[in-house]
Amino acid sequence: MCGIVGYIGKRDAAPLLLEGLQRLEYRGYDSAGVAVAGKSGALRTVKAKGRVRELDDRLPKRFTGTTGIAHTRWATHGAPSDENAHPHLDAEGQVALVHNGIIDNAADLRAKLVADGVEFASETDSEVVAHLIGRSSADTLEAKVREALAVVEGTYGIAVLHAAFPDRIVVARNGSPVVLGIGENEMFVASDVAALVRHTNQVVTLDDGEMATLKAGEYRTYTTEGSRTSAAPTTIEWAAESYDMAGHDTYMHKEICEQPDAVDRVLRGRIDDRFATVHLGGLGIDAREARGVRRVKILGCGSAYHAGQIGAQMIEELARIPADAEPASEFRYRNPVVDPDTLYIAVSQSGETYDTLAAVQELKRKGARVLGVVNVVGSAIARETDGGVYVHAGPEVCVVSTKCFTNTAVAFALLALHLGRVRDLSVADGRRIIEGLRRLPEQIAEILNGEDEIKRLAARYADAKSMMFVGRVRGYPVAREASLKLKEVSYVHAEAYPASELKHGPLALIEPEVPSVAIIPDDELLEKNRATLEEIKARSGRILAVGHRVHEIADDTVVVPRNEPELDPILLGVPLQLLAYHAALALGRDIDKPRNLAKSVTVE
Ligand code: F6R
Repeated sequence: MCGIVGYIGKRDAAPLLLEGLQRLEYRGYDSAGVAVAGKSGALRTVKAKGRVRELDDRLPKRFTGTTGIAHTRWATHGAPSDENAHPHLDAEGQVALVHNGIIDNAADLRAKLVADGVEFASETDSEVVAHLIGRSSADTLEAKVREALAVVEGTYGIAVLHAAFPDRIVVARNGSPVVLGIGENEMFVASDVAALVRHTNQVVTLDDGEMATLKAGEYRTYTTEGSRTSAAPTTIEWAAESYDMAGHDTYMHKEICEQPDAVDRVLRGRIDDRFATVHLGGLGIDAREARGVRRVKILGCGSAYHAGQIGAQMIEELARIPADAEPASEFRYRNPVVDPDTLYIAVSQSGETYDTLAAVQELKRKGARVLGVVNVVGSAIARETDGGVYVHAGPEVCVVSTKCFTNTAVAFALLALHLGRVRDLSVADGRRIIEGLRRLPEQIAEILNGEDEIKRLAARYADAKSMMFVGRVRGYPVAREASLKLKEVSYVHAEAYPASELKHGPLALIEPEVPSVAIIPDDELLEKNRATLEEIKARSGRILAVGHRVHEIADDTVVVPRNEPELDPILLGVPLQLLAYHAALALGRDIDKPRNLAKSVTVE
C-alpha cells in the first residue's frame, strides 16, 4: 500500500528520501510527497499527483535539510491529487505527518476540529492526526503524538516532523509496518526494508502499540503509554542487490526467472533422506501434536489464498488430514467456530496483509494454534503466529506475485510431507515426494526455456474478449491463480471454474472470442478432463491446453515436465505466469505496477 520513508542525520535528506520512495513505489503510487526541516527547523513540503519522478521534477533546486519524511500514496480516502498527497500539515505549518493505514473515526474527529475552526487542506483521514498533534499543548513532540493517538481509532504507521523539535522524528505503529534502519550517525525509517537496504542492514521492527524517537545516531522505543521497550536491532537477511532488476526489463520477469533458485532455497537444508521426511525447524509443533491435528484450515488472500488451496490438497493427499483454504478476509468477518483440534495456517508473502493478520489475531484471541507460511522474515504475521515455515523466495517487488506463489506451494509440499510422515505416509511415498521436490528447480528451468513459444501464444490470445481457465481438483487452484495473474497484469477479463462446473452454467459464455485455458495433467482425471475439452470444442471454443502431452483437440498445447501427481500444480502454474506476462507486454501494460493495485494490502 502506501509507503513511508524518513531520514535524520548529516546528509541532505531529500535525495535519500526520493530514492527510498522509488524503492517503495510498488506499494502504492498515485501520488507522493516529501517534507524537510531546514536549519532553523522551518518545514518545507512538496507534493505531486502521479509517480515519484513527477515529485522529483517539482522539487526546487535548493530543497535542503538533514531531516525529512516522505510518502507514496495509494488512495483510500479522497482521490489522488496534490492536496491529498502526504505529508499533511497542521494549521500552523508546524507539524508534517505521513501516514499509512486508515483512521476509522476520522469523520467524527474532523467534524469536531472543523467546529473548532480548523480548516482542512485535504479530504484524507490522515490530516486529522496532523491537526491533533499541532493543537496539543504537551511539552514534547513525543507527548503531543501520544496525546493525538489516544483519541484516534484505526490503523496507522506514522512519521512526524515538528518545526519546534527539528532534532527528531517521532514514529508510531498500530497495524501498519514501521521499520527503523540504524546507520552511522544517521537513522532511517520506512514502512518496508526495501527502502533501507542500500543504507543499512541493521533494523528494528516496531510492534503494534510501539513508538520511537529517532535522532541522528540514536533511537529509543517505547509504548504509546510511554514505557520504554527494548528493541535490539536484527540483521536483514536479503542483500541490497536482490532488489535490483538484474538486467531484466521488469521485476515480474526477473522474479519469474528466479524461480529455479528460489525453489532450491526453500528446499535447502530441509530434506532428510534417511527418514524420507523434511525438517521444518520453526514449525513449533512436535510429532505427537501433529498426530493430534484433526483438521487444517488455511487462510490467505489473493495468490496466497490460491497457494493455500494447493497446500490444502497436498495436506489431504499426503497427510490424510481434512484440509481446506478460505480467504482470510471472509473468515474473519463470519464469526467462525474456532476448533481446538484444528491447525490454522496463515499464508502471506508480505506478512503484513491486514485481513490475514486480523484473522490470525482473532484466532489467537480464541485460543487457536496458528502457524504461518510467510516470505518476509520478522513481518507482523510471522511474529504473531506460533511458528511456521518461511518461504525463502527472496524479496518480491512486482505487485503481481509469481516466485512467492510457487515457493509457497513448495513450502506446503514440505509441510504436507512432514505431517504425512508423522502420521501414515509410507517411506516409499516419502521418498517419491522427496525425489519429485528435488526435480522441481530443473523442471522449472526447462519450462522457462520455452518462453519464446509462450510469448508467441500470448500474442495470439491477448486480444481475447475474455478468457476461461478450467482445471479439475489439483488443476483448479492453478486455473484460479492463472486467471488472477492474467486479469491483474494484462486487464484481460478472465474467469476460473472447476472443469466439472462448466456445464452447470459457464458453457454459455464459450464462443470463438472467449478462449479457454485448460489445465490437464496426466493424472487419474485425464479422461474426465478430455471430456471437458470436447465440451468446449463442441461450442466452437478455442483451447490452450497445459499438461504433460500434446492434446490434438486443443488449438495449442504447452507441455510441462512430469513430476509426481501431488506436485503437478507447482509446475503447471509456471507457464501461465509467462502467458500473463507476455499478454500484458503485448498489450503495453505497466507490468510491475498494474493500475489500482498495491503490493501489500495493509488496510481492510
Ligand atoms: C496477486 C497478489 C495478491 C496477493 C495478496 C496477498 O498477484 O499479489 O493477490 O497475493 O494481496 O498478499 P500477501 O501474500 O502479501 O499476504
